[in-house]
Amino acid sequence: MIILGFESSCDETGVAAVCTERGLLAHALHSQVAMHQEYGGVVPELASRDHIRRALPLTREVLDKAGLSLGDVDAVAYTAGPGLAGALLVGASVAQSLAWALEVPAVPVHHLEGHLLSPLLADPVPEFPFVALLVSGGHTQLMRVDGVGSYELLGETLDDAAGEAFDKTAKLLGLGYPGGPALSRLAQQGDASQYQLPRPMLRSQDLDFSFSGLKTAVLTKVRAQKTPLSDQQMADLAAATEEAIVDVLAGKALKAMKQTGLRRLVVAGGVGANRLLRERLVGTMEKRGGKVFFPPLELCTDNGAMIAHAAALRIKAGLERLEPTNHAFTVRP
Ligand code: KG4
Ligand code: ZN
Repeated sequence: MIILGFESSCDETGVAAVCTERGLLAHALHSQVAMHQEYGGVVPELASRDHIRRALPLTREVLDKAGLSLGDVDAVAYTAGPGLAGALLVGASVAQSLAWALEVPAVPVHHLEGHLLSPLLADPVPEFPFVALLVSGGHTQLMRVDGVGSYELLGETLDDAAGEAFDKTAKLLGLGYPGGPALSRLAQQGDASQYQLPRPMLRSQDLDFSFSGLKTAVLTKVRAQKTPLSDQQMADLAAATEEAIVDVLAGKALKAMKQTGLRRLVVAGGVGANRLLRERLVGTMEKRGGKVFFPPLELCTDNGAMIAHAAALRIKAGLERLEPTNHAFTVRP
């Protein structure tokens, strides 16, 4: 089966074609970062309008790259939530309209399941069961994954997500949007030991997280300075922030491995692109005889491939009723 997938939950329009037998055939992505940059964050209405502009040209690009025509498509998948309501509605209506016109089923996909299963797009493919550390702009969760559709939540953030901690601290330091990659780049020139920041909940017995206090701690450091931060101090503070977030994520991931007795860890979501987090987890897991798996770097942040791929895996697992529907739909922001 050939599945065409759409992602439009936030500020990236992603389209991809996945074959249930041959895997990812092609994908295309348009990032709206440049458009939202001058506002310092995502403007939902602008995001929706841009998804409308990009969806069909990207679809054409994907079909061309994969050497397919619309008639080859057997199902159309789309992100049904969570995300920005207007942005989700664009992807959902494009996908449902195409499915209706092609007389094929439409498959709504949960955005986080897309992220969660995206490491299975990499080589080598992790075998089930594994622990998943899901770290995006909106979510921070540890899950036990026994198979497609079989997920147990082990712990999650009680307030801000890890990506949010990166983004909010970056904004505080005037690094603009998107903050995570900017803060991480600056951190490379910094010395983390120059600032002591808390590791919230690192020692708690559960597998939950809390990141909102970190942003406040950074703000307190900035305010305590009598003069504006020098470039070096900014870099030091960025390094200290990154170090604190990575310490907590790696510490809790390790605790989850111990609690479940599993040896495979899978990392997914935008923060999974973070260099320090990758290095730390690889090092820690190697020492303990475990193995860590990441999605291909370009598929860590939002993309259409993970949505088409999650739909393909759900179809293969018999979890989708592929009957022609009336194509009435809703999204779950
Ligand atoms: O998964 P994603 O693309 O979107 C959501 O579903 O939220 O994740 C976006 C998040 C943002 O908070 C962004 O700052 C963060 O991932 N991010 C990073 C890096 N690349 C993206 N955070 C730290 N280091 C990075 N290299
Ligand atoms: Zn995402």
